[in-house]
Amino acid sequence: MSDVDEVKSRLNIVDIAGERVTLKKAGRNFKGLCPFHKEKTPSFMVSPERQTFHCFGCGKGGSVIDFVMEYEHIDFLEALEQLAGRAGVTLTKRIGDSPEQKLKEKLYEVNALSGEFYQYMLTSHRLGEKALSYLKNRGISGKSIKTFGLGYSPNSWDALSLFLKKKKFDERILATAGLTVQGNRGFYDRFRGRVMFTLRDHRGNVVGFSGRVLDPTIKEAKYINTSETPVYSKSNVLYGLDVTKSAIAKAGEAIVMEGELDLISSFQEGVSNIVAIKGSALTEGHVRILRRFAKTLVFCLDSDMAGDAASRRGVDIAEREGFEIKAILIPSGKDPDEAVREDPVGFKKAVNSAIPIYDFFLTSIQKRFDLATAFGKKKASEELLPILFRMTNAIVRGHYVKKLAQLIGVSEEYVDEEMRKVKLPLGTEQDTKEKETAEVLTRQEKIELYTLALLLQGKSKELWTDLEQAVPISDFSYPPVKRILQELQTYLAKTRDFSISAFVKTLPSELVSVCDQAYLWDVSDSTDTEAKYQEEWKKTVRELKRAIIRKKIADLNQELHAVDDPTLQERLSELTKELSLVEKSALS
Ligand code: CTP
Ligand code: MN
Repeated sequence: MSDVDEVKSRLNIVDIAGERVTLKKAGRNFKGLCPFHKEKTPSFMVSPERQTFHCFGCGKGGSVIDFVMEYEHIDFLEALEQLAGRAGVTLTKRIGDSPEQKLKEKLYEVNALSGEFYQYMLTSHRLGEKALSYLKNRGISGKSIKTFGLGYSPNSWDALSLFLKKKKFDERILATAGLTVQGNRGFYDRFRGRVMFTLRDHRGNVVGFSGRVLDPTIKEAKYINTSETPVYSKSNVLYGLDVTKSAIAKAGEAIVMEGELDLISSFQEGVSNIVAIKGSALTEGHVRILRRFAKTLVFCLDSDMAGDAASRRGVDIAEREGFEIKAILIPSGKDPDEAVREDPVGFKKAVNSAIPIYDFFLTSIQKRFDLATAFGKKKASEELLPILFRMTNAIVRGHYVKKLAQLIGVSEEYVDEEMRKVKLPLGTEQDTKEKETAEVLTRQEKIELYTLALLLQGKSKELWTDLEQAVPISDFSYPPVKRILQELQTYLAKTRDFSISAFVKTLPSELVSVCDQAYLWDVSDSTDTEAKYQEEWKKTVRELKRAIIRKKIADLNQELHAVDDPTLQERLSELTKELSLVEKSALS
């Protein structure tokens, strides 16, 4: 048995998924609220027999390994290793053996050591005295310096390089880690004369650094960061998360700040469910990581600046991932670091009275536009209407349309009228709508899939005989279902008892996911007793038959349009008769 099969065979997906999602028994399967998208009624199904999951809302599905990958946002090998540990399986080929993973480990190691070097320079070396007093002046405690791994990079071209080379690190590794930069005369230290912030992923691996200038007269960027490396990508790292993740999970809420010092200052004042995005816009990568810890995101926003497009995009992205979004109003012109140090109590109050982001947008237009003038009303509504237009819940939208109308003092009708004219930037709404429809089945396809669902979840052999008599496989029109039925025919001809796992093994791999969809379809409501199952089956087959005949009639009518052929006419009247028979049988 392969490592993967060994791990899978020793674990039960119902346990693994059940630890993260509340599952209820539903017939042969279990169901719960999908952890991968926002929903109110459960469409997330888990099959103990198939050891698979499928969400009928968002379409995600697969094995226990896929589940853990998706849930933990880790790659295949990481998930395998995690589950192997749990199952007590020793992997024959360890992940650490792959060259990529070895390189990563090496980079974590050299980064961690550099972090220690920088910290030593800050806290224990004469060269770091100025930096230390700078931090003390900014109210940063010794404890924070340890917790967040702050340091100082001496103003030298090679202090770090020399130190690391003594520790037997290769020049190329330093460059790959982004610690050095190649110049005309070889490599030199990237960070010089800066206060250093260690950047760690949420597991605590040191992935890079951010350095702030000490001397304000120096004409260099205030902050410089590690370049993109195999372990660091700006759009995936959330500063502080390794320290704050448990507070975030406990609160179910993550407060999103901009800078490292905003985060550290708030943390010192006891507001600890926070992350910092380092001045960049919130990305999908960020949001996916946060989904594991929180359901609500709280943006710290200065109400004078709400028009800012980057934070708008961040709101959009977070909303698409299903977050509830709130805003904390901070005093205008201040960042959280300044606000919290000036008035810690006021800041905590603001945190506790976060408001829904849409209320924040409304508050903000009041501040920024003169709503007494026609021009101000126009500008304000131009900013808000695209946001309201995109809201999916009509009631919530209605609520804000009304508020906006009141605020600018015109009747709701006009607000509605203007909203209908809203054109969204290309590639936003249109894209997501297409994606949704791509996965929606036609009525015909749906009933075919449902028939397969009942067939596979019931006494398959008996039902099969029944179905064969009622509807020939060739009449099915949804290709994967049709092919699965053909495979099933072959399979049943050879075996006495139907077993779903044995059957799936005979399927070509591209059919497995549709087969699982059928097997995981929640039919439990209409089939909880044997009698009800029979009834549901009969009804479904009848429906199916009707749908098929109707489709044939429609096709024939089309053909008749083109050629007036008497045999077609004959066939049509036969089908019409057949249809009325099926429809009558439904009444009896
Ligand atoms: N930033 C960056 N590169 C820059 C400027 C800023 O990466 N050239 C990031 C830093 O993480 C910074 C954040 O963007 O913390 C916000 O920038 P800014 O508001 O300019 O700095 P502050 O966080 O207020 O930093 P400080 O209080 O030290 O001035
Ligand atoms: Mn600041």
